[in-house]
Amino acid sequence: MSAVEIVKNISWVGAVDWNVRSFHGFTYSTHRGTTYNSYLIMDDKITLVDTVFGPFGNEMLEKIAEITNPAKIDYVIANHVETDHSGAIPEIMRIAPNATVIGTARCREGLQKHYFGNWNFQVVKTGDEISLGSRTLKFIEAPMLHWPDSMFTYVPEDSLLLPNDAFGQHLATSRRFNDEVDQAILMEEAAKYYANILWPLSAMVARKIEEISKMGLPIRMIAPSHGVIWRDRPLQIVESYLRWAKGEARKRILVVYDTMWGSTEKMAKMIMKGIISEGVETSLFRLPYSDRGDIFKELLDAECLVIGSSTINNSILPTVSPFLDELVGLKPVNKTAAAFGSFGWGGGAVKTIEDSIAKAGIRNIVPSLAVKWAPDTLELQKCFEFGKEIAQKIQSNE
Ligand code: FEO
Repeated sequence: MSAVEIVKNISWVGAVDWNVRSFHGFTYSTHRGTTYNSYLIMDDKITLVDTVFGPFGNEMLEKIAEITNPAKIDYVIANHVETDHSGAIPEIMRIAPNATVIGTARCREGLQKHYFGNWNFQVVKTGDEISLGSRTLKFIEAPMLHWPDSMFTYVPEDSLLLPNDAFGQHLATSRRFNDEVDQAILMEEAAKYYANILWPLSAMVARKIEEISKMGLPIRMIAPSHGVIWRDRPLQIVESYLRWAKGEARKRILVVYDTMWGSTEKMAKMIMKGIISEGVETSLFRLPYSDRGDIFKELLDAECLVIGSSTINNSILPTVSPFLDELVGLKPVNKTAAAFGSFGWGGGAVKTIEDSIAKAGIRNIVPSLAVKWAPDTLELQKCFEFGKEIAQKIQSNE
C-alpha cells in the first residue's frame, strides 16, 4: 500500500495490521485487525503526526520516502505515548536526529521511560500553536482520553482534527475514508472501541467534547490513529460518542451466563421467555463461547444486563470471572442489572455477581434469583416471572 493524501500536502503514511486479533495484551479482541495511522505534513517544516507500532516502522518509512526523505523531518508530534503510536519514534529520531518531538509534559516523561532517547523535546499545552509555514498546528491536551499524556492536534487551515485514539476503530481495510467502507461494520467497530476503551472515561469524553465545541473550531475532517478517517459528516462520530457517554441505549436486555451441568442454562432460557413475553428485545450469550469484547459492544446499546452463573467453591464459575472483572473496570454508564444462578448446597454465585454489579456502579433492579440443584416446574415459572418483571421495569423506566 502507498501513502494517501487526505488533504493537500497532508498524507496518511501509516500501516495496516491485518492479523492482530487482540489488543491491550489479550484484553479485547480485534476480529477485523487494525491500522496504525501516521500523518505526514509537507510544509516549510516537515512534520510527522504520530508514528506506528514498532514492527510496522519500515512500512511507515517506505510511505514517507514516497513523498520526502525521512531525514528531512523537522517535527514529530507525539499525541500519545502508547507504543502502538510511539513505537517507531526511536527509528525516526535515529534517521532525523535533529528533529524535535512535541507533546505534553506527561508525554515527555512517558517517552523517556519507554525509549530513554536523548531527543530534542518541546512541551506543549492546550492553546499552544506552532507554525509550519503555510499551516499552523494547535494543541489540545486530552488527559485520560485515554492516557494522562493524550493530546489532540488541530490544523486550522484544513479544519482537520488529529485526535489520536479518540474516534478510532480497530478495522483493517485498504480504504482510508469512512464513506468508502461498510457503514454497519464501521459503526460496530467504533462502538466496540468505545465500549472496551473509553466507557469508564465517559464523563471526561463528554467534557472534552463540550470544551472543544466551546472553542468553536470548525471540523471538516477527523483523522484518528486507528481505522478510517471521518471525512463524510465527521461530526457523526462525535454525536455517537456523546450518546454513548450519556449511556443512551435501546430497551434491550442481554442475558449473559455460564452453566456447569445445564441448570443455570435452563434458568437463562426461561428468563428470556419471560422477557420476550413482555415484547422486549433480548439476546443470550454463554461465556466463554461469546467474546467479552463483543458482549460489551452489545451492552453499549442495551439498557439492562442479566448475569447468571452456577455456583462452584461458593462463588461463580471461573469462566464468568473475567467478564465480571472487566465489567467492574469498564463501569458501563446508565445500565441496570440482575443476577441469577443455580447451586448445590452452600450457594454463593449470586452474591458474587451482586457484589460485582455494585462495584461496577450498576443498579440492580430486581432481587436476585437462586435455584437449588435443577429448577423444577415451579422454579422455571419463577424464572419466567423474573424475566417478565425485569422487562416490565425496563418498559416503565423504573
Ligand atoms: Fe492508546 Fe492506540 O493507543
